Amino acid sequence: MKSFGYILSAGLLSLASSTEAYSPDRPNDLDFTEAQAEAHNCGSVCQQNLRQYEALDRQVFGNIPFDYEFYETAANFSNSRPGDMLKLRQQNASAYDIPPGTSLWTMQYTSVGVGGENSTEPPPLVAYAHGTIGVVSACAASSSFNGYDYHSWQLLTGPGYAVVATDYAGLGNNYTSHKYGNPLLNSEDAYFSVVAARKAFPGVFTDKWAAVGHSQGAGTVWGLSENPRVVTKESGDYVGGVSIAPSSRLNDILTAVPLNVGWGFGNLVVNIFQALKFPIQPVVLTPEALARYPLMYELQLCDTSQAELNADLPNHGIVDFTPSITQHNHEAYIAFQNKYGAATGRKGYKELLVIQAIDDEVINVNATKAAYEDACKVGNIVHLSLYPGLDHDSSIAASAPEWLEWLDNKFAGVATRDSHRCVMETRSVLVDPL
Ligand SMILES: *[C@@H]1O[C@H](CO)[C@@H](O)[C@H](O)[C@H]1NC(C)=O
Ligand SMILES: *[C@@H]1O[C@H](CO)[C@@H](O)[C@H](O)[C@H]1NC(C)=O
Ligand SMILES: *[C@@H]1O[C@H](CO)[C@@H](O)[C@H](O)[C@H]1NC(C)=O
Ligand SMILES: *[C@@H]1O[C@H](CO)[C@@H](O)[C@H](O)[C@H]1NC(C)=O
Ligand SMILES: *[C@@H]1O[C@H](CO)[C@@H](O)[C@H](O)[C@H]1NC(C)=O
Repeated sequence: MKSFGYILSAGLLSLASSTEAYSPDRPNDLDFTEAQAEAHNCGSVCQQNLRQYEALDRQVFGNIPFDYEFYETAANFSNSRPGDMLKLRQQNASAYDIPPGTSLWTMQYTSVGVGGENSTEPPPLVAYAHGTIGVVSACAASSSFNGYDYHSWQLLTGPGYAVVATDYAGLGNNYTSHKYGNPLLNSEDAYFSVVAARKAFPGVFTDKWAAVGHSQGAGTVWGLSENPRVVTKESGDYVGGVSIAPSSRLNDILTAVPLNVGWGFGNLVVNIFQALKFPIQPVVLTPEALARYPLMYELQLCDTSQAELNADLPNHGIVDFTPSITQHNHEAYIAFQNKYGAATGRKGYKELLVIQAIDDEVINVNATKAAYEDACKVGNIVHLSLYPGLDHDSSIAASAPEWLEWLDNKFAGVATRDSHRCVMETRSVLVDPL
């Protein structure tokens, strides 16, 4: 229920630069002892990998120190309600690498905020839901030098959107553990980031709002379109969402790209089930890899270093998928996706634009087509655009002309020809072949 985030919105001036010079204090600080690693079956090669890949993770955050005090649970949290704003702080935008004239606010809510200053038209509000960054509290997107922009949320500031971007519960603040890849719960975090942002900046944004997400965040946005809260008035007028490379249905995704292929997700899939104390736990990691799993928490490893934690183990520490393990895991994945997934038969309340790269190496195109078909079968309005020549990370920026125009139309109330039916089409962009 409790979640934390940051808001960004276009305002006036100033540019930031990031320079690598000093080492700010962060929980993912590259410091660990040999004994600590050895205690978890992490020998010298594993330790070498950790140093190398933690350093890559650290580039995601740059020289921004982790604001321990800010991420601490607010004193007035215990009596608060979802959507309540608990802490609000304007950050020094020039310390960050964000577009000139963008102001940056961090908000803790039951969520961080940025205000669009005196524009005559209120800025249209978009909730942005980021892709995988990690599952431990150090991996807060709001604590990154560019707000964890990978040519993603910043695309929204040019056209003048105010962006409220959740960290998702459990990232940044650690009152609760993060629930990775969970369209239903992650959609609550995105939803309440909007409710709280309106309390932080009363009257500043348009009543209409929309959502845009990538990967984990695209599952979030798909979940949001099926979250009955979006038709209440509490958050304003939700007009629809853009879901790019959606992680909506776990079983389909892991069937199309099994973990022994997409091995970087082994620890994350364990998190999905363990953090929920889910009644069926899939069998994913070997005993050697499971012995290291606690290091992800102890050393606060974010996405790159957690993915490489088992790089020295046979098969990256992923178990041998015997038929019985495969069967057991499918049962776990299906039970999970039925309870927490999206596009599993629930009613969709608002229109959804889904963008999928045909060559996406993480979210398989067939899994997304199946999700589209199932959602349309129960009467939901989904537009699926397939892009040849793009991969998982390039799909967000390369498809921006389409989804920015789509958002524009939604906010302007322009009904498009296909507003009331499902459409799947292949789009083209000029790209260099992969
Ligand atoms: C919590 O405290 C902050 C700062 O004192 C205040 O701005 C905010 O409105 C409070 N929120 C609630 C829900 O009481
Ligand atoms: C804001 O950050 C810039 C760049 O790091 C720094 O030069 C400036 O002193 C900071 N301003 C404040 C008020 O802290
Ligand atoms: C914005 O509003 C403030 C205070 O109301 C005013 O001082 C400032 O000049 C305005 N800025 C612009 C660009 O309109
Ligand atoms: C949560 O964070 C606080 C302060 O940052 C730290 O003291 C505490 O040990 C953390 N708790 C967990 C469960 O990680
Ligand atoms: C999608 O499914 C089709 C038909 O089963 C298959 O030929 C194709 O290779 C699959 N595509 C991918 C990317 O897995």
